[in-house]
Amino acid sequence: MSSYPTPTLATARLVLRPLVATDAEALFAVFSDPAVVRYWSAEPWTSVAFAEQAIARALDSYRAQSEVRFGIVLADTGALVGTVNLHHFFAQNRRCEIGYALASGHWGRGYASEALEAAIGYAFQGLDLNRIEADIDPRNGASAAVLERLGFRKEGYMPERWFVHGEMADTVNYGLLRRYWNERP
Ligand SMILES: CC(C)(COP(=O)(O)OP(=O)(O)OC[C@H]1O[C@@H](n2cnc3c(N)ncnc32)[C@H](O)[C@@H]1OP(=O)(O)O)[C@@H](O)C(=O)NCCC(=O)NCCS
Repeated sequence: MSSYPTPTLATARLVLRPLVATDAEALFAVFSDPAVVRYWSAEPWTSVAFAEQAIARALDSYRAQSEVRFGIVLADTGALVGTVNLHHFFAQNRRCEIGYALASGHWGRGYASEALEAAIGYAFQGLDLNRIEADIDPRNGASAAVLERLGFRKEGYMPERWFVHGEMADTVNYGLLRRYWNERP
């Protein structure tokens, strides 16, 4: 059986590390913000208990080495400002999905691109994956920009795939092959 441990990774400005119980308040601050979950597949969190449950699930996945769930932390202050996850692994096919979110007060500074670059490098080099998939709302321009900057290609379109925030929402499917990643300039 394949295993997918969550290590600690350092970038120029960020540390990606496993979540811990004391991250609950900071995690709640990220996912209780309607702007953050505007194009997410769930409603904003309404109490810190949601964060505690998410952290408990993350700790289970660390023990089982079944999913990679990073907290994104600013290197200079230690503040937790978001998450990036590698999940839905298919060992035989060497692929997984990626998901990510950042506190809205920190958008537009390149943090998501920097965090995803580290997580993707780990997926291809550390975990020997061949393919990473992402599923985003077509209205989520910032998310599309991050994916395309990292070499993901648009592969498909699924209308009315989600019902969330009181409306049907479409999906754009993106994929990144290891060879696209290795061929980047
Ligand atoms: C998507 C998200 C992670 C981006 O984080 P970020 O740190 O601001 O991203 P970066 O600064 O690395 O890059 C943002 C890019 O989007 C571009 N951008 C921002 N808003 C945009 C918009 N409305 N339309 C098009 N592009 C946009 C920026 O110009 C930048 O591109 P560039 O680097 O080529 O100039 C952040 O907006 C977020 O957490 N959103 C809520 C959660 C979410 O939607 N997650 C993805 C769903 S799976």
